[in-house]
Amino acid sequence: MAWEPYTEVGSLASVEGEDCSVAGWVETTRVHGKVAFVVVRDGTGVVQCVVAKNAVDEACWDFVTDLTYESTIEVRGEVKEDARSPGGFEISAHDLRLISRSEDYPIQPKEHGIEFLMDHRHLWLRSGAQRAVLGVRAEVMQAAQDFFYREGFTRIDTPILTGSIGESAGTLFSTEYFGETAYLAQTGQLYLEAACPAFRKVFCLGPTFRAEKSKTRRHLTEFWMLEPEVAFADSEENMRLQERVVSYLIERALDRCSDELELLERDVTLLSGVKPPFPRLSYTQAVELLAEKGSDIEWGQDLRGSDETLLAEDFDLPVMVHDYPREAKAFYMKENPDDPRTVLCNDMIAPEGYGEIIGGSQREDDLERLRARIREQGLPEESYAWYLDLRRYGSFVHSGFGLGIERTVAWITGRTHVRELIPFPRLMKRLTP
Ligand code: 4AD
Ligand code: MG
Repeated sequence: MAWEPYTEVGSLASVEGEDCSVAGWVETTRVHGKVAFVVVRDGTGVVQCVVAKNAVDEACWDFVTDLTYESTIEVRGEVKEDARSPGGFEISAHDLRLISRSEDYPIQPKEHGIEFLMDHRHLWLRSGAQRAVLGVRAEVMQAAQDFFYREGFTRIDTPILTGSIGESAGTLFSTEYFGETAYLAQTGQLYLEAACPAFRKVFCLGPTFRAEKSKTRRHLTEFWMLEPEVAFADSEENMRLQERVVSYLIERALDRCSDELELLERDVTLLSGVKPPFPRLSYTQAVELLAEKGSDIEWGQDLRGSDETLLAEDFDLPVMVHDYPREAKAFYMKENPDDPRTVLCNDMIAPEGYGEIIGGSQREDDLERLRARIREQGLPEESYAWYLDLRRYGSFVHSGFGLGIERTVAWITGRTHVRELIPFPRLMKRLTP
């Protein structure tokens, strides 16, 4: 007799007092004399099934007392409210059946090294903390889309294979493309700029690629970026949009992921206070402050990870550092008319040591200056013909930014390394699983 349809564990409240069947994976089992406790996870929740020896037949009891971690089973029984049980319900089981037995599950309830866990990422995803962080990530992704949809932005899906270098030549992945070289996109930005005259306010949310030879806790070679681009917005307006987006993402995570954050033991005191306006510092002020705090940074250098951490110590909110030296930043940023050594841009640096979560700028809208910057950086001018057209046919003030999803979710969840914030991380030395 079929036991389906199964009730989802997350919906047990709707069948309280009734018989139902659930299917899932065995998280733990414990036998206590004539009662066994089997904790089952089905992906929507976790439920404890209580099996009394005298309530099931002998074969079933033998089966229950021989269950292994991560075996797939189905359970039939009565749903009862139980405050001590995870999720608030338990199932008083009449019968259990095997769907598929799991032998020697590699991840055991003990400490494993990070490389072992990463090698078993395909299984590690099932563990409570990993489910929680990826749940927060999914919520943040949805919140980002909801925010921009509500604000009247149009989603533009930008290409992953591209012929124009988006950021800089140093960190490109390339691939042979029918006799030409294609690059994996470092950003969707240039294409969003092209969509501005069509839709005014646009955004993309997708994977981006950087062949970064850095093995830091903030770098992935494949990471996801949320990028808006707005026509007739200057650098100031760009920063105001950043504050609002970041505050909204946090508000949503706090509102809808409180169970996950609690499981992760995230102290949300500082997060709860994240509301605009965020403090702003010019790059020059930041360098002065850093020098006072003992950094050896010199004017002209981009802030290093260690500088960002040092700077963030003084703030409970994300801090926006604006107007960096032009040599430290990408070719497309607009020259600052008040100080041409700098460009109209900003980074947002998260508190608590999570580093740069946003890079944004007003774009160079002057054809000749942009062409000069492309040449200055040794980029192949031919491949930017289409991009230069945007300054030829109706140029306009515009700005945008990129928010790194993994770094932002690392901050929200309080995890220290970005490798846990993406389902299957790609790092310099990791392409599998
Ligand atoms: O500052 P970045 O390089 O900016 C851009 O790509 C712009 N084109 C965005 C735009 O204006 N539309 O990258 C933006 C953000 C960083 O602040 C950081 O959060 C994240 O992307 N990021 C990375 N995250 C993980 N691993 C990496 N290797 C990252 N590189 C950048
Ligand atoms: Mg940056």
